[in-house]
Amino acid sequence: MNYQEVINEAKTCMGAYCKVCPVCNGRACKNQMPGPGAKGVGDTAIRNYEKWQEIRVNMDTICENKPVDTSLELFGKTFRFPFFAGPVGAVQLHYGKKYDDMTYNEVLVRACSEAGIAAFTGDGTNPAVMEGAAKAIAKAGGAGIPTVKPWNIETIREKMALCKEAGSFAVAMDIDAAGLPFLKNLTPPAGSKTVEELREIAQMAGVPFIVKGVMTVRGALKAKEAGASAIVVSNHGGRVLDQCPATAEVLMDIVDALDGSGVKVLVDGGIRSGVDVFKALAMGADAVGIARPFVTAVYGGGEEGVKLYIEKIGAELADTMAMCGVHDVKSITREMIY
Ligand SMILES: Cc1cc2nc3c(=O)[nH]c(=O)nc-3n(C[C@H](O)[C@H](O)[C@H](O)COP(=O)(O)O)c2cc1C
Repeated sequence: MNYQEVINEAKTCMGAYCKVCPVCNGRACKNQMPGPGAKGVGDTAIRNYEKWQEIRVNMDTICENKPVDTSLELFGKTFRFPFFAGPVGAVQLHYGKKYDDMTYNEVLVRACSEAGIAAFTGDGTNPAVMEGAAKAIAKAGGAGIPTVKPWNIETIREKMALCKEAGSFAVAMDIDAAGLPFLKNLTPPAGSKTVEELREIAQMAGVPFIVKGVMTVRGALKAKEAGASAIVVSNHGGRVLDQCPATAEVLMDIVDALDGSGVKVLVDGGIRSGVDVFKALAMGADAVGIARPFVTAVYGGGEEGVKLYIEKIGAELADTMAMCGVHDVKSITREMIY
């Protein structure tokens, strides 16, 4: 199988909403929810993608001719590449019946771990989703990041216990899920958390705690105050609040605000190539997340599809690094983008 065959196969089974576009740029599915689109007008996912395209990379091949090292160190673990598969929940609703959240996470977590990266897993109202994710992560020796929704504290406690059993090397919370319509109407209510509440949750995690869904310097400083080990600069792909800026637009200010704090910065939203990964690292991100294209990879090619996709993005990153005269990810700097 090659990556084009993965795409061709995905076209036959992705359900009514995702059009399996040559580039996943948010246009064809725009505000299609249910489906992979964005909330309201639906242009935030498009903007996420387009803002990376406005940034160019600076070529410089007057340097030592030696292999590049794309590996990333995070929380004491080494990964082959500085990108992760992002969490996607309710896949059956949004992408069709070929997978449910349990089978999706099982395939994704295993394939990512075998390929030397890790997957974030999503969460849902059905407790079996987190239970399944925890099992998949345990089987992968803890190489996965369960992403717990901001439920009420008792439910979070139960989910955190599952994460602990799984031995996951980190735990995340998509704090911005407060904007998802389905989360608003639950009893007991789920939604935003104060710094104090978040601090309690971070301590409960017992492993590095990642706050996903930060779009402002103010939010980043609050996450730091709460004891987060990392944040994900993310607008949830435009799915939780209409008319957000693109993540590429706010990334550098957030990186600068957290400089020297020890809090790691990840970013997601419209990152679609190894060149885009390079741009995000040049802007100061420690690593990136890619979400929707991994769904295409799973639906179109299962584990093999995921591995092909990881190799494709990894090879593009390695090529960009070599052409920009940089040999390890830590040495990628702002002068390397235009
Ligand atoms: C259908 C769908 C479901 C998602 N479910 C989750 C989820 O359960 N938890 C989460 O943190 N993010 C979720 N996300 C957001 C993604 O993890 C990611 O932040 C967003 O899609 C932007 O990345 P991308 O442009 O690479 O897709 C979901 C996104 C989509 C499209």
